[in-house]
Amino acid sequence: MIDSTGPAWDAIVGLSRFAALAAMAELDCAEHLASGPMGVPELAKACEAHEPSLARLLRELETVGVVRAVAPETYELTEEGQTLRDGVPGSMRSALRMAAENGYWYAMGNLAQTVRDGRSAFIARFGPLYGYFQEHPEAARLFNEYMAIRAAPLEAALATSYDFTGVETFVDIAGGTGHLLAAVLDRHPGMRGVLFDIAHVVENARASLSARGLGDRCEFESGDFFESVPAGGDLYLLASVIHNWSDEASLRILANVRRAAPPHARLLLLEMVLPDDATPHIGKDLDMRMLALTDGGMERTASEHTRLLGEAGFTLSRILPLPAGASLIEALPR
Ligand SMILES: C[S@@+](CC[C@H](N)C(=O)[O-])C[C@H]1O[C@@H](n2cnc3c(N)ncnc32)[C@H](O)[C@@H]1O
Repeated sequence: MIDSTGPAWDAIVGLSRFAALAAMAELDCAEHLASGPMGVPELAKACEAHEPSLARLLRELETVGVVRAVAPETYELTEEGQTLRDGVPGSMRSALRMAAENGYWYAMGNLAQTVRDGRSAFIARFGPLYGYFQEHPEAARLFNEYMAIRAAPLEAALATSYDFTGVETFVDIAGGTGHLLAAVLDRHPGMRGVLFDIAHVVENARASLSARGLGDRCEFESGDFFESVPAGGDLYLLASVIHNWSDEASLRILANVRRAAPPHARLLLLEMVLPDDATPHIGKDLDMRMLALTDGGMERTASEHTRLLGEAGFTLSRILPLPAGASLIEALPR
């Protein structure tokens, strides 16, 4: 008999639960169950699934707590299960589909190879992450939606907890879907925004900011932050960007911001700040993704952020804690 306790067993069982949730997300079961309980045969038809296999999946999902049997072989969504629908507050559907996406799955499954080689097994097979996204639009869509979901608890906190006094132009470098920029512009009606990212990402951001009525207060610029970034901002944001890159690559990005920023400008990094000690921190878990998926990207401690910013010509002035284990790091040009 094996000992069914301990971190290894938790991880092994957790993997089954993850796979079940990811399958539920992929088959869109939650959406089909949204209007009320369904019998397995009816749900199997709606999800285009194999009925006996779906029955086993639902039995496991009930133990996870996202569905509940209301009669034999008939299930309804629980409140937790609602989060597996698209477009509901706190939706986790894209995040689950992203985590089960082919390339991502390969990256995490080959972590030992990455650690052995000191080079991402994902990159060795598929090439750099953002090139992968360009070649796999569905993976890119899931990733962008995942980033937006991840940033949701941070949007209000960023827009309200930082003092934006005097900021007329706010430049969001590698701003993705533009959700953080939109949250700040919403709360600061006199401010203008610049969203900078690679071309295909900028076009999506333009559409979503325009749909929110913010299109005429924003400029949308596409480019490569290793070449240059937009000049003349009062405040620059790099949110979840630096952690994708090695120190060397990060210094190239930061040097371009330093060059473009006027002397009075400020820089904000929205990043994890890892504790220096053995305290558990979500950033240590997310660092496994950086290790698996990027070429030298990493979550950093406060002293690592201070050193990196210092080498790029900035002084780290303060670190403000945000929700979800994130921090806002303010830096001033020296
Ligand atoms: C982890 S996402 C962060 C997105 C956004 N700041 C957020 O917090 O949701 C990193 C972003 O960097 C962008 N990016 C990657 N390489 C880039 C490059 N060379 N030049 C400009 N943007 C780049 C990606 O398209 C992506 O939107």
